Formats: sequence, structure tokens, C-alpha cells
Amino acid sequence: MDKKLMAETAAAMVASGKGLLAADESSATVAKRFSGVHVENTEPNRRAYRDMLFTTPDIGNYISGVILFDETIRQASLAGPAFPKLLESQGILPGIKVDGGAKDMPAHPGEQVTEGLDGLRARLDEYFKLGARFAKWRAVINIGADIPSAGCIEANAHALARYSALCQEANIVPIVEPEVLIDGDHTIERCFEVTEATLRATFQACYTQRVSAEHMILKASMVVSGKGCSVQASEAQVAEMTVTALRRSVPAALPGVVFLSGGQSDEKSAAHLSAMNSTHRAQLPWPLTYSYSRALHQAALKAWSGKQENWKSAQAVFAHRARMCSLAAQGKYSPAEEKKAA
Ligand code: 13P
Repeated sequence: MDKKLMAETAAAMVASGKGLLAADESSATVAKRFSGVHVENTEPNRRAYRDMLFTTPDIGNYISGVILFDETIRQASLAGPAFPKLLESQGILPGIKVDGGAKDMPAHPGEQVTEGLDGLRARLDEYFKLGARFAKWRAVINIGADIPSAGCIEANAHALARYSALCQEANIVPIVEPEVLIDGDHTIERCFEVTEATLRATFQACYTQRVSAEHMILKASMVVSGKGCSVQASEAQVAEMTVTALRRSVPAALPGVVFLSGGQSDEKSAAHLSAMNSTHRAQLPWPLTYSYSRALHQAALKAWSGKQENWKSAQAVFAHRARMCSLAAQGKYSPAEEKKAA
């Protein structure tokens, strides 16, 4: 195990004012995103879209790493270089999503367990050779009347821990992502309870599987009110309850914590992260930053809409969102910043 390499990778991922771009949507998820803007889901279109994002000028000022999909890590920019090389040339670390997706869990109606451990050791070795220095595995925890169950939390925690141990063996920093979904009409208090239980189980499983806490990154969901809940928590409450859940359950030894946006608006994703970093900095043993997909590039996708002539304007939209997220990671975001030009 090359602990020095992994420590350097993890530190670079959460470097001050930077965060991750999640561009690892499976082709099925891209189909959903593209259909919203009437773009055909073809390989050349997927490549062109990622090319537009990755060639945005100066994006390395805000983005420390990009999570790629298996197809994407093997693609190249129209300008020539393979995507991992293109990213490296801008000081950006390539990463790779390695899970096989969340599948319906037997005997657990409404719940899912993430698959993909079979053959993972060989795949990680190949990804390392392709340039990947970190990886991602996403587990999904649904909140409902009688869920999540202990069985669902435990199965997902176990898989996350097994995946993490395999990553570290391959000198790849694992991002552990147990996402508590925003869908439902539950209160923020219920989200808090489920998030704390999920994080505790995840780190207990990582300990049991001998995962090194110093060489992993947590990708957490924020503690928020369910999307359908009639009472929506304030930004200050989201920040306070998310920080409390993390402090109770995440080892201080971790090099950093990144967040997913999870269906929050672009502005809320930035405001919540900023509030945590401005109000609660003194309580935090780790840097807190972003690893957003939708909140970093859904606006750019709309601006691009599959048209070559929109390339530059879409890049400007992406660069703006990246700058907003960077400010949030420093606790300096405010809605007024949205109106300022870069
Ligand atoms: P969102 O920011 O759109 O939630 O996506 C982040 C991610 O990578 C989920 O796995």
C-alpha cells in the first residue's frame, strides 16, 4: 500500500477552495439528463458534453478532481488527448465510479443495495493504469414509513467497506458515498436520525474491514427536509444539523468530507456548504467541500443543449457555478455573488 501517494491524492482532492466535479453519470442517467434538453444520448454527444466541461478555461482553479464513468475514462478530447491526460495537464486528478449501481434488495421492499464487488480488484488495477487516483461507490438509503431497515444499512455499509479496502490495496483513494435521499415528505429531524445511523454503520464496517481512515474521503448527503415536507428547514438549520451529524459519526482522521448536491437547487447547494464553512469552521476537524454533479453542471448542460455554437457560453455558465462552489467551500458564498461576473 502506497500510503504516501494516497495521502497526497486525498489532500489534493480537498485542497482549499477546490472540490470535485462528478461527471460519472452512467449512460442511462445521461439519457435522462439529455432528454430534458432534447439531446440524443449517443456516444459522440456524451463525449462532446464532457469535452466541453473539461476544456473550460481555468477550471483547475476550482476543480481538484473529476469523477469519470467507465466510458469516459477511455474517451479522448476532440483536440486529441485522452480525458485523463487532459485533466492531469490542468492539475486535475482523474477519478472513477466503480460501483455497478443500486439494485432492488431482496426481502426489503423499497430499498436498494449497491452491487459491483465481483472482479473489482482487476478493474481497479486497470483504472489505476488509465490514470485514476481515486474512486467512488454510491449507496442509496431511502427514507419511508418503515425504512431504512437495519438490513439495508448494514448491507450497504459492508459493500462500501469491502470496496474501500480493495481501493486502498490498489493505491486508489476510495470515496465512500452513502447517500440518504432527499425524496419523501419526512422532516429534517428524521433525515438527521437516518444520516447519523448510516454514517455510524458505514465507519464501523470500514473499521472492521481494516480500511485506513487516513486514506479515504466521505461523500455525504446534507441533512435536509424531505423534498415533499411542508416545513422546509432554514439554511442555518441545515448547516447546523449536518455538522452535528458528521461530528458525531465521522472519524477526525479522515482527510476530508465532500458533499453531493442530491437534488437541491444550485443556490441552496452553495448556500448550505458556505454556511457550514463560515459558521461552524472551528468545530470541523476536516475540510468540507463539494463533489457535485447537478449543482455544478446542470445549468451548463441547458446552456449547451447539444449545439456547437453554444460551447463557449455553456463553459462560462459552468465556470460561474464552479466559482460559486469554490466560494462556498471557503465560507464566502452569498446570493449577491451570483450576479457578479467572474
Ligand atoms: P448530485 O450532486 O447531482 O447529487 O450528484 C453527485 C453524485 O455524484 C451522486 O453520486
